[in-house]
Amino acid sequence: MSRPNTSIHGQWSSRWAFILAATGSAVGLGNIWKFPYITGENGGGAFVLVYLLCIACIGLPLMMAEIMIGRRGRQNPVNTLKSIIKEENKHAAWRYIAWIGLIAGFIILSYYSVIAGQAIAYMFRSFAGIFEGVTAQGAQSIYTTLTNDPERLLAWHTVFIVCTMTVVARGVQGGLEKLVKFIMPALVAILLILVGFAANTGDYFNQGFNFLFTPDFSKITGQGVLSAMGHAFFTLSLGMGAIMVYGSYLPKSTSILKVSIAISIADTAIALLAGMAIFPLVFANGLEVGAGPGLIFETLPIAFGHMAGGALFGGMFFLLLVFAAWSSAISLIEPAIAWLVENKQISRRRASVTAGFAVWLLGLLTVFSYNIGQGWILFGKTMFELLDYLTANIMLPLGGFFIAIFAGWVMSNNSTQEEFAIKSPIVYHGWLLLIRYVAPAAVIIIFLNAIGILA
Ligand code: TRP
Repeated sequence: MSRPNTSIHGQWSSRWAFILAATGSAVGLGNIWKFPYITGENGGGAFVLVYLLCIACIGLPLMMAEIMIGRRGRQNPVNTLKSIIKEENKHAAWRYIAWIGLIAGFIILSYYSVIAGQAIAYMFRSFAGIFEGVTAQGAQSIYTTLTNDPERLLAWHTVFIVCTMTVVARGVQGGLEKLVKFIMPALVAILLILVGFAANTGDYFNQGFNFLFTPDFSKITGQGVLSAMGHAFFTLSLGMGAIMVYGSYLPKSTSILKVSIAISIADTAIALLAGMAIFPLVFANGLEVGAGPGLIFETLPIAFGHMAGGALFGGMFFLLLVFAAWSSAISLIEPAIAWLVENKQISRRRASVTAGFAVWLLGLLTVFSYNIGQGWILFGKTMFELLDYLTANIMLPLGGFFIAIFAGWVMSNNSTQEEFAIKSPIVYHGWLLLIRYVAPAAVIIIFLNAIGILA
């Protein structure tokens, strides 16, 4: 079985382009919207410490595995697994792992886009000064006015899907790479400005900093540990083949260990910086840290509405959110695009239009779950909650588990060692230990929790 030396979709122009693209995938709504609110809900420092441990012991080895598998196969995740299975002489059923991922990415993007659309709407509202002097009640009613209107939600969802598919249609170097080269520096700049702004709140900045970095172990529950682990997967884009397909465009000579460490550190740093930008504002305005998913859309506008230059800073904040979501969205659909191009022999442009339309259509479920479809309840959840639950709590952990098993047990040590080309035997065996035992065991725990057996 001969393996291709490059992907037919082209490859990243450099190691840095890959790091930017994978970091762009990892840094998204997960870092700026979800990380602060689950940290708030789980009492701060101790939760952050557990999350960091999960990134290092589970996320990092799994990221290395996905990149390694992708680069070895050099095709979309389905064909990549097929070719490796053939090479290793293993059972053909292993290729279904890739299918779980392709479908998960598709579903995640359908609701991710609706949330990103809300961020676009908020960006314009903020720049226009709508939040000036807003009360808690006012902020809440601005949010429900947006979400109660299916036409508005649909319009912003459409805008976001079109932006995403336009980039994807232009290909690896002409689309994905160009976008992240522009967005990632802008994102870091905006974030630093916002942290700088938060630093000016004096004592509140220290309060925010201590909330994030002073662990109080009495505040962490078993449930909190589990959600820290689950979030480590989501934030690093693991478990569905997104990083795998990005790895298939990686030049041969690049050290997988080094880029994986760089991406994990960058993703973590951005989540922590987002926390440092947000918590001081929350404390300075006497807002609730444990406000939950509404922290960004219902709470922060109150803070922006009462500070000098709030319209500008608020607008920049939501622009940051839109940028981060954009560079993640392209990675959610890229596995499906690569599959369509390779297996259905259609052009990238056609593949993008087709897949984009299908995701847009599926996104209607989430759009309507806020308004006319509020009463469409299945298993006690709205359509949006159901799709989120199905993907984040079931499909990603399942995908991550099988990818770990595939890399650690199905592939031979010769193959993985050859692809990694890690010189130190201690480092290689450390990875093997984590991917064979630690990561799968942890994923089983997350999974049991997700389906309610441990909870
Ligand atoms: N990591 C992104 C975030 O934090 C979301 C994301 C992009 C993702 N690609 C993914 C999550 C693949 C899981 C799998 O928002």
